[in-house]
Amino acid sequence: MELSPGRIAISRLTGKVAIVFGAGPNIGGTIAHFLAREGARVVVCDIVPAAAEATVAFIAAHGGEALALAGSALDEAAVERVVARAVEHFGGVDIVVNMAGKVHWSSVLDMDLTAWNEAVLSFPTAGMLTTKHAARAMIATGRGGSIIHLLSTAAHFGEASGAAYTAAKAALLNFSRSAAMDLAHAGIRVNTITPCAMEHQLWTAMRDEIFDASFEPPHTRSFYSRDDYLKSIPLGRFPRASDLAWAAVFLASDEAGFLTGIDIPVDGGLRFKYPAWRPGDYTGANIADYARAIERTEYGEGKGPLL
Ligand SMILES: NC(=O)c1ccc[n+]([C@@H]2O[C@H](COP(=O)([O-])OP(=O)(O)OC[C@H]3O[C@@H](n4cnc5c(N)ncnc54)[C@H](O)[C@@H]3O)[C@@H](O)[C@H]2O)c1
Repeated sequence: MELSPGRIAISRLTGKVAIVFGAGPNIGGTIAHFLAREGARVVVCDIVPAAAEATVAFIAAHGGEALALAGSALDEAAVERVVARAVEHFGGVDIVVNMAGKVHWSSVLDMDLTAWNEAVLSFPTAGMLTTKHAARAMIATGRGGSIIHLLSTAAHFGEASGAAYTAAKAALLNFSRSAAMDLAHAGIRVNTITPCAMEHQLWTAMRDEIFDASFEPPHTRSFYSRDDYLKSIPLGRFPRASDLAWAAVFLASDEAGFLTGIDIPVDGGLRFKYPAWRPGDYTGANIADYARAIERTEYGEGKGPLL
């Protein structure tokens, strides 16, 4: 369901204060916009000041209330400052959404130690710092809260050339589960959202800016093609930032008040489908054809054709 833009539409988060770390116009900016549209007042924090300001300008132009702050979610002093500003400006913190970190693509054969350390530490460290300082502020106001970290299918699967990213996101996943246990006594919920590859970036900005001139043809990187990827998503399209934002609104709201330590896959059915099934792909070969081509064995010894 898409709501028409241009006004505060409904109010599932009225009275709540949110901080979004990593809030450029893609996923973070969309989540900030949706939180504001539901009535939350939003602190928009990005390492790039212009990104935070652009998102705040968009929210303000659409009738929401937001404050832009520059800072890195990997810098403890900056995170502390952002949380303190949110408390000072809006009177508390109820919701945190974090997606900050550094992606590094490399085969393990060529892995650079400096790049590995930076990338693997980045996502769980941003997760830990934003959780730690927001939770302290939530405990101080005594009204609980909802903390949401953005994962990726990389948290759940191995990915060629993605060892650093998958290790980082898997660490963030289990960090979030443990933080949920640490903070349950204070009524603070910690959950995650897992998107698969997003249409908006993987096939545009990432290809052009990250892979740039060094991008090698997919077969040499063991990478998947866009069409192959799409064929494996049962709902037949890539997720949009708005799909993630709806999940974030739900987790942030009181509707999700008894959910903690969970992960919501926003992937059109990708993670839980039978891995070998490719929706819509049918070669015509049936199970009897396969059976005719294999040999029956007993105790590891051949016993002739199966059929
Ligand atoms: N784009 C995809 O295909 C995809 C797929 C799965 C998961 N994800 C995850 O979704 C999240 C957002 O992805 P996106 O596509 O919107 O990325 P993006 O690069 O467009 O946005 C990330 C934002 O975070 C900011 N940022 C980076 N490091 C920061 C830091 N240390 N502190 C504060 N802000 C920082 C960037 O300036 C940017 O505005 C990431 O966690 C990413 O891993 C993305």
